[in-house]
Amino acid sequence: MGDKPRLIVGVSGASGSVYGIRALQALRELGVDSHLIASKAAEMTLGYETDLTPAGLKDLADHAYKPSDVGAPPASGSFRSLGMLIAPCSVRTMSEIATGVTSGLISRAADVTLKERRRLVLMVRETPFHLGHLRTMTQLAEMGAVIMPPLPAFYAKPESLADMVDQTVGRALDLFGLDWKPTRRWGEDLESGRRPSARR
Ligand SMILES: Cc1cc2nc3c(=O)[nH]c(=O)nc-3n(C[C@H](O)[C@H](O)[C@H](O)COP(=O)(O)O)c2cc1C
Repeated sequence: MGDKPRLIVGVSGASGSVYGIRALQALRELGVDSHLIASKAAEMTLGYETDLTPAGLKDLADHAYKPSDVGAPPASGSFRSLGMLIAPCSVRTMSEIATGVTSGLISRAADVTLKERRRLVLMVRETPFHLGHLRTMTQLAEMGAVIMPPLPAFYAKPESLADMVDQTVGRALDLFGLDWKPTRRWGEDLESGRRPSARR
């Protein structure tokens, strides 16, 4: 895989562009080669939710591909990677992956990740869910994807929105075996979660 491990990062048009941004920044800190695919709708939500431009988002990644470029490296299973994180993942993108009707590079790369039995983590962002959403998520879980809606962990005692986002991103990176420093861990960093033996 070359010197550095690779992770494919999809950013779709669900609310929460900040999750994709922080994931790319974390991967840079960790020395992981990031391969970004942002959808057209992601560029729109990025504009509504952050001060970052689409070009600024691409600058956070080591490699960036057009969402229509189904000939890009992540479209093939022979392109080795740790897997793929989609943060945030829209209902539209999630549903496309579930059906296998992959119309662009995000869903194609996700389909390839599943067929190669690599880790696929979907930060699905919608609320509330209707039965169709829940059924689609069940189907994806059965296919091997990890469904990880970005829900905050209050036991981590977040003091800001940034803390909440980082904890979620850190827990998503855990699923790829990547240990990002800001991640707060029960039984380690969090005093209330320490076992009596660890307090000594
Ligand atoms: C500001 C904004 C917020 C949105 N939030 C969500 C959301 O949380 N979840 C979702 O599934 N779609 C959301 N959408 C709609 C998606 O962007 C839309 O369904 C789009 O077609 C998704 O395309 P993509 O999957 O190719 O990114 C939002 C759109 C906008 C403009």
